[in-house]
Amino acid sequence: MHKSFDLFFVSSNSHKYQEAKSILDSLGIDLGFLKSNLEEIQSHSLNTIAMAKAKNAYSIFKKPIIIEDDGLFIDSVDGFPGPYSSYVFKTIGNKGILNLLKNNRKAKFVSIITYCDKTILQSFEGKLNGRISKTQKGKGWGYDPIFIPNNSKKTFAELNNKNELSHRYKALRKFSKWYLHK
Ligand code: IMP
Repeated sequence: MHKSFDLFFVSSNSHKYQEAKSILDSLGIDLGFLKSNLEEIQSHSLNTIAMAKAKNAYSIFKKPIIIEDDGLFIDSVDGFPGPYSSYVFKTIGNKGILNLLKNNRKAKFVSIITYCDKTILQSFEGKLNGRISKTQKGKGWGYDPIFIPNNSKKTFAELNNKNELSHRYKALRKFSKWYLHK
């Protein structure tokens, strides 16, 4: 028999779901997965994109859901790729990002988790400061091989405790505090 869930993560990205599931498990919330390639509106604001994505997901599945929208913001190129991180990863990729940067390698990852049900639409933000490595290190998904969190020498791809400190963890921890008391 299928297990029944009270809350679903809607995404086309199973890496994000695996991480979100493991993080929410540790915070006492059971998370199901609805794999779906949701349409993304264009905006300079991750939160505007996330809110639209969450409303769209709820209108399709009619179940309490969360979605996530992320961005990698690099200081020396005015926050690029930011809300365009997904497109930039698919086009120039990690190699292209490394070719763009010189001395200032400061960057941050931002995650917006948005919850939507019949009556509530609410977002939670997690930010993690760090820097872009000089070469790709480790085998991870997306930008994991080039992002080094502050106070670390290793990239996300080399760390074994990414889920205890990531932008995703920070947003989901805020979400869990709210969700468990709503
Ligand atoms: P979106 O939220 O699906 O638009 O994703 C933005 C981009 O950031 C995608 O290309 C992801 O691969 C990348 N990304 C988001 N979170 C992470 C992460 O934790 N590690 C590596 N790349 C990430």
